[in-house]
Amino acid sequence: MIQFKIDETLCIRCGECATDCPAGIIAMNDTPEITNEQGCFKCLHCYAVCPTGALSILGNHPYGEVSLAGQLPHAEKVSNLIRWRRSVRRYKDENLTPELIDELLQTACHAPTGVNASEVLFTIVRDKAFMEKLSKEMMARLASVEAAGNLPEGFLGQYLALVVEVWKTERRDIILKGAPHLLLTSAPKNVPCPVQDTHIALATFELAAASHGLGTLWDGLFMMALAVCPDLVEQLGIPSDHTIGYAMLFGKPAVEYHRVAKRGPAKVNYLG
Ligand SMILES: Cc1cc2nc3c(=O)[nH]c(=O)nc-3n(C[C@H](O)[C@H](O)[C@H](O)COP(=O)(O)O)c2cc1C
Repeated sequence: MIQFKIDETLCIRCGECATDCPAGIIAMNDTPEITNEQGCFKCLHCYAVCPTGALSILGNHPYGEVSLAGQLPHAEKVSNLIRWRRSVRRYKDENLTPELIDELLQTACHAPTGVNASEVLFTIVRDKAFMEKLSKEMMARLASVEAAGNLPEGFLGQYLALVVEVWKTERRDIILKGAPHLLLTSAPKNVPCPVQDTHIALATFELAAASHGLGTLWDGLFMMALAVCPDLVEQLGIPSDHTIGYAMLFGKPAVEYHRVAKRGPAKVNYLG
């Protein structure tokens, strides 16, 4: 039951909810009515678009909800944030507060998902002590795979051989890089767009983190380590029916960038 209700004293019969419903399941009779509850994919567009707050659905009631219009950053500020963000490979040896981490996750879960599946799982290391343990375990496993001559051929094996070499000679983990936190996104394999959903969630998290002055790093080396040590995936508590999207380090940066690292111009294929 999607609990679709219209407050007839507030509804102005504008039809915006019916026009905007991506599933096309709202009909305008005297007031809006649902024609097919099963077709609803819970996107809440009808609820968000109603100009008078007449519509409730799925336990969401507009009473007292504050509009964010007027509280949005100027386009130039958003552009500056995107340009200012850098991949951070040096971190302060301190945890972020659980409250800040939770705030970032509650923002990131607003990222779009295919057919509004909203099934992205955020697996997160909140304590640097766990990162240290994970680092030691991962390195021990990689070293034993390497010692047994079982690293894969090609660039994957070459990168991981370098990782093991640096660990053996310098006791330095160039995968987790001393970062206090790690975020992995995954999604059930049977949702419409698991790979895209997990990546978009991370990109959204990254920008939310950057807006707090935090550093992030898409961690391809960690993904490579997972590929050769698949039992680590189980240890991270990721359900076996999930596709892993990607891994991201984050925390307070121990590095400051003083100017934008220029990119572009964008490669564009203009049509028309
Ligand atoms: C999918 C992906 C995987 C990456 N993997 C790594 C990695 O394993 N190690 C690393 O140091 N940087 C990694 N990076 C960071 C890139 O090297 C970085 O984004 C690029 O050099 C541009 O720098 P910028 O992010 O500061 O603009 C990765 C980035 C992406 C998008």
